[in-house]
Amino acid sequence: MNIQFDEKQGIFKLDTPNTSYCIGLAEGRWPGQVYYGPRIDTTELAWAMGLDQRPNTPGTLPGEAVSFFDRYPWEYPVCNMGDFRSCCLAVRTEAGEVDFLPEFAGYSIVPGKILPEGLPGTGGGQEDCASLILRQRDPQTGMELELIYTAYGHLDVITRSARIRNGGNSPVRLDKALSASLTIPWKDSRLLRINGSWAREQCIDIQPIGRGFQGTGSARGISSHQDHPFLAVLSPDATQDHGRVYAMHFVYSGSFLAQVERDQFDQLRMVMGIHPETFCWKLTPGETFQTPEVVMVCSDRGLGHMTRTLHDLYRTHLIPNHNRKRPVLLNSWEAVYFDFNEEVLLNIARSAAALGIELFVMDDGWFGKRDCPSGSLGDWIPDPKKLPRGLDHLSRELEKLGMELGIWMEPEMVSPDSDLYRAHPDWAIQTRNRLPMRCRDQYVLDLSRPEVEAYVYQAVETVLRSARITYLKWDMNRPLTNLGSAVLEPDRQGELTHRYVMALYRIQKRLTRAFPDLLLENCCSGGGRFDPGMLSCSPQIWGSDDSDAYERLKIQEGLSLVYPLSAIGAHVADCPNHVVGRTTPFETRAIVAMAGTFGYELDVTKLSREEQEQIPGQIARYQKYQDLIRQGDYYRLASARTGNLDAYLVVKKDRSQALLTAVRPMNVPNSRRTYLPLAGLDPSAVYRDAAKGVSYSGQVLMHLGYPLDFGWGDHQAILAELVRE
Ligand code: GLA
Repeated sequence: MNIQFDEKQGIFKLDTPNTSYCIGLAEGRWPGQVYYGPRIDTTELAWAMGLDQRPNTPGTLPGEAVSFFDRYPWEYPVCNMGDFRSCCLAVRTEAGEVDFLPEFAGYSIVPGKILPEGLPGTGGGQEDCASLILRQRDPQTGMELELIYTAYGHLDVITRSARIRNGGNSPVRLDKALSASLTIPWKDSRLLRINGSWAREQCIDIQPIGRGFQGTGSARGISSHQDHPFLAVLSPDATQDHGRVYAMHFVYSGSFLAQVERDQFDQLRMVMGIHPETFCWKLTPGETFQTPEVVMVCSDRGLGHMTRTLHDLYRTHLIPNHNRKRPVLLNSWEAVYFDFNEEVLLNIARSAAALGIELFVMDDGWFGKRDCPSGSLGDWIPDPKKLPRGLDHLSRELEKLGMELGIWMEPEMVSPDSDLYRAHPDWAIQTRNRLPMRCRDQYVLDLSRPEVEAYVYQAVETVLRSARITYLKWDMNRPLTNLGSAVLEPDRQGELTHRYVMALYRIQKRLTRAFPDLLLENCCSGGGRFDPGMLSCSPQIWGSDDSDAYERLKIQEGLSLVYPLSAIGAHVADCPNHVVGRTTPFETRAIVAMAGTFGYELDVTKLSREEQEQIPGQIARYQKYQDLIRQGDYYRLASARTGNLDAYLVVKKDRSQALLTAVRPMNVPNSRRTYLPLAGLDPSAVYRDAAKGVSYSGQVLMHLGYPLDFGWGDHQAILAELVRE
């Protein structure tokens, strides 16, 4: 197994193909991190615990605990015991005191993966990975802690979570229960975050790490447009293919905290977990709390190796049905918004079908009396004015055209103006004496209530059973506020958002089990809940409401840093673009949308003849490369964030085929041809660019580069296929 314990040294060692992670036990009692980096083949590491330095452990220097506690690289630091850096766990006893100091109490090493109970996690069988459970117990309070690690044998990934059990006799409250902490003994380093806002989600931001706290987090009840549950610490020299990277990614979709702290000794501590601001959890004797999972990657080959490791992990061990072929779809939202009826939709569908589009997605506005974003959420009955013959009739008409029907729902919501709200006003999340804040004129349903969870499942199931619906876009258009549940006990109100997230996972997983052929696409006003948790339920997520090709370069660069392209919903939209008013060439829009699950979001009947004629070719091209895009290795080559070029390469695992995408945002007058060095190719092979009728040596493509001959004008794109001869 790739996990071992050296009893003599007191060192646990977890190995992945290129990394090792070592844990020691100070005084045999306290697990601390000794090493995380390139793979080593020794456990002779007791010396590296630094316990021979002063201040020594409380065992050898009985008068001094705090100085030791405040510098020790704890595996899972607890609050109020003398470690004043960011901690992971605060246990408040019945007496109201924060009091918990766990000590090592045993371990197990088992083959395979231990999944976090009731929560998503990356899977893995006995042949893929091994797991370590480090058991700890506080002799004073009886509280127990288990740290759970899985090390993958074929990927440089270690996952972590924690279980806290009340082994005492009285109830306690968890004020904070993060999932993992990581110590990096580096002074000069940089922090990479992915953040943004609505319509400019997931942008990469890199800053030097100074003293104190830096990080990211969301208290919105969703992972959010603004912040992403991901952090990476980069060595000063780290680039795409060089330098060290430590990354943490949270498999969770609710509020989160991700922090790095540079302490008084210039050590870095990274922590990640559920945001404590909107969380507390009561544990009665015998009860256990399971934290969500953190995925950790250490790469000594820059960001690129981290990216490919995460892509492979999520494709093989997280995303359901990742490998299914995705139909080319047309989404009605930007085509007609709320203004449609059956004939309008079928009219678009007729043209779309003739052009080769396979799936027609009817977006918002088909139910209740929904002619604008106010009203009807919760009343999932087709609007008789718009769809007098119902969903089944629409699906049959589409079937005649050779198209499938997809549908939009926003099941977690209720409009104040809806029959559902009139019948169950208390189902909305709210505090006792105040109406909840409206956002997009809607409230959030309290999924922490079992009857509401059951209703939401049943509402979606009923719609899906009412017609031949092969695709569901599951939207979620507002954050959670006024956190209060009509049924939770006063001392359990802090559990609302986590219970909500767990119920959401249950509903979606139950649904995809009941409808195994359904293609579920998650959405949250675009990329507002794009996270590994949601990806454990649906193989794709709508990347952003911003479908402008130029804006999408940055969004898709951020997303593809951590997610495979097949997870990113990307569409060709109308111009001038509805969000930014920019006009980009139709062909560039289609090339940019290939970095994801390709589709159209416009009224094809309104396109020029010339544009319409391009669509069959664009679809055929996507179909041709769909497998490569879904399964290939991703290499980021240039970024529009930092220069006038965005480029990436997808390389087939056996390096026999590669697809290059390059976009030059602005034309440059009086410029000469540039060469873009490629990566990931076989240097000894010759690659043929059939479209150009030229062959290139792999070595030259990687060292000199591929010649970029952009067309005239701004926002020009190149798509080139290279096939090994
Ligand atoms: C959100 C989604 C859009 C669309 C609208 C409909 O903004 O991100 O794609 O579905 O809701 O109201």
